[in-house]
Amino acid sequence: MCEPLELQFRSQYWDDPAAQAEYIRFTRGIHGLDLSAWRDRGFWDEHYVPFSFFEGDRIVSNVSLYLLPMVIAGEPCVVPQVSGVGTEPLYRRRGLNRELTNRALAWCRGLTSEFSFLFADLDAFPFYKKCGFRCTPQHRFVTPVQSLSGDGSARRLNFNDGDDLALLHDLARQRTAVSDEIGCLSPNLLMFHALYTLSDCAYWVEELGVVAFAGMTGKTLRVFDIVGPQIPALDDVLSYLPAFKANQIECMFMPDKVALAHVRTLAGDDPDGTHIGGGDFPYEDRPFRFPFTAHA
Ligand SMILES: CC(C)(COP(=O)(O)OP(=O)(O)OC[C@H]1O[C@@H](n2cnc3c(N)ncnc32)[C@H](O)[C@@H]1OP(=O)(O)O)[C@@H](O)C(=O)NCCC(=O)NCCS
Repeated sequence: MCEPLELQFRSQYWDDPAAQAEYIRFTRGIHGLDLSAWRDRGFWDEHYVPFSFFEGDRIVSNVSLYLLPMVIAGEPCVVPQVSGVGTEPLYRRRGLNRELTNRALAWCRGLTSEFSFLFADLDAFPFYKKCGFRCTPQHRFVTPVQSLSGDGSARRLNFNDGDDLALLHDLARQRTAVSDEIGCLSPNLLMFHALYTLSDCAYWVEELGVVAFAGMTGKTLRVFDIVGPQIPALDDVLSYLPAFKANQIECMFMPDKVALAHVRTLAGDDPDGTHIGGGDFPYEDRPFRFPFTAHA
């Protein structure tokens, strides 16, 4: 028999250090992700908003919204990304997470774009469908290359060094969108990626005033982001990077601003499990991808 639950709903509690620490514990347990480095470096963000059920001082279920400043189809807007979704195993299948999702999306209505988005693990697809999200696969943008003959003069950044972190953070606050189709301007989410997912592939191209994130996967050079007050042609950026042995480049954002020749748009498997909720997503019926560094 299920015991009745004594749960307290809480949101916007980052001013309570104990509750924030509990959030970090919960996220480590459910997602294996330790957000303390992001907090300790000062990048924790008020625009990252939790919606949680607490039992006593413990979170048992959570949905977060990251309210992201974005450019969508040329228009600046704020888009909610659903993230940090989880329910402790003993509390699952009681409707807790759907209730939190409903409360979160009701809270942001009128403050943000009509659509929201999220990236889902395959196991969670049925749950998100029940919550009203639709699986909307992204495309891939690739271009073949013969050789990449960069001169390697760009300096690789080391984010254990406070000066390099500050350099990127400054640029992140002055940046323009890497794509005017779908671009993300959130400085603190970019800093999350600098610390956690892209820490070893950031290059400072001083001559162009940008940091480029790029690294090899198999024979593909994946370009994750270009951060700066303007976006140079990708060929120019690559001429300062190391001479990668790649036979293709994959742009991990929409390539409308980087003057890339012979881009092929590929449909197919979307490892990100992209889902859209709500209405008015302009790319419902045409190729798109969210920038890698927009993943919360
Ligand atoms: C996915 C998860 C957040 C669901 O939380 P929950 O509190 O159990 O969800 P709810 O009880 O609110 O479920 C809402 C509906 O989805 C259904 N549902 C939930 N999990 C499901 C699953 N894994 N498969 C199929 N349906 C599921 C529920 O049965 C319910 O439908 P119903 O009203 O028809 O019965 C939880 O299982 C979890 O934490 N999983 C591990 C972490 C995870 O996958 N997070 C998402 C990463 S993208």
